[in-house]
Amino acid sequence: MNVKDGIIKEIIDLKKKKNAVILAHYYQEAAIQDVADFVGDSLGLSQEAAKTNADIIVFAGVHFMAETAKIINPTKKVLLPDLNAGCSLAESCPAGDFEKFIKQHPGHTVVTYINCSADVKTLSDIVCTSSNAVNVINSIPKDRPIIFAPDKNLGKYLIKKTGRDMLLWDGSCVVHEAFSISKLLNLAAEYPNAKIVAHPESEEVVLKTAHFIGSTAEMLKFVKEDSGKQYIVATEAGILHQMVKDAPTKELIPAPAKEDNTCACSECAYMKVNTLEKLYLCLKNETPEILIDETTRLKALIPITRMLELSGKPSSAANTL
Ligand code: 13P
Ligand code: SF4
Repeated sequence: MNVKDGIIKEIIDLKKKKNAVILAHYYQEAAIQDVADFVGDSLGLSQEAAKTNADIIVFAGVHFMAETAKIINPTKKVLLPDLNAGCSLAESCPAGDFEKFIKQHPGHTVVTYINCSADVKTLSDIVCTSSNAVNVINSIPKDRPIIFAPDKNLGKYLIKKTGRDMLLWDGSCVVHEAFSISKLLNLAAEYPNAKIVAHPESEEVVLKTAHFIGSTAEMLKFVKEDSGKQYIVATEAGILHQMVKDAPTKELIPAPAKEDNTCACSECAYMKVNTLEKLYLCLKNETPEILIDETTRLKALIPITRMLELSGKPSSAANTL
């Protein structure tokens, strides 16, 4: 047995022994996705965290995801393989600055994308993910002005989709802002039959080229069920692992980044700080653990619960600009 297979066996044994569940995001490295009990988008992972019977949740994703799982599950131990797994969107929105922004614009309903800290969620009326954001915005009475944070690109997309005027926080995802529109257009000319599928964290200029826009889970569903044969995929490259499994006969082409990098595709450095070995060690040592003070947890739970109540099923509507 090679080292990697040995680690995988240890993880599977520990999972059983400790009644642990591994939840992984589609941007995690392939080996982590393969050893996980559930792989999903941010909404699917929150829903799975809300219904698990496990005593330990190992969250193979980034900090705000593990934090959300802990907010929902105060009595369970929630572990994150590496506490440095942050997110540029969450970092763009410090709670103190956001609180001042809200005070400067009183009377607004505050919608926060799940990619933010627990402290920011305490300032929020309702949380959303990319797969339920349209439904969340549409659930707000038409006469209520809205603040949306922290992703300005998702915010602009939602303004177009819902026709609502929203005040946007100036945050963005480093990965989705890194796509090069000129290289993308060249690629589209090279593959005239390819459909472009894009995540709504991408810039408007990229979204305008897309045949389909959706969360990671929605992009996977579209590529699997669509009748086309070639797709240019504008999101983090980790998704290609599941996409190849779901649609083995289709040609998948990663959207090109502005800066050339070694794999000619876009990787989230935060997601990729988790490794199979760190996953094993965190399950073995039950650390690093996510801890949240109870006052913050209870306040942050309110907008998350509102989102979960509103999101029986992720929407699968054909999304474009
Ligand atoms: P979803 O998987 O919910 O689409 O989110 C993408 C993302 O960037 C997570 O950080
Ligand atoms: Fe954050 Fe972007 Fe990485 Fe997702 S891909 S964790 S939004 S930096």
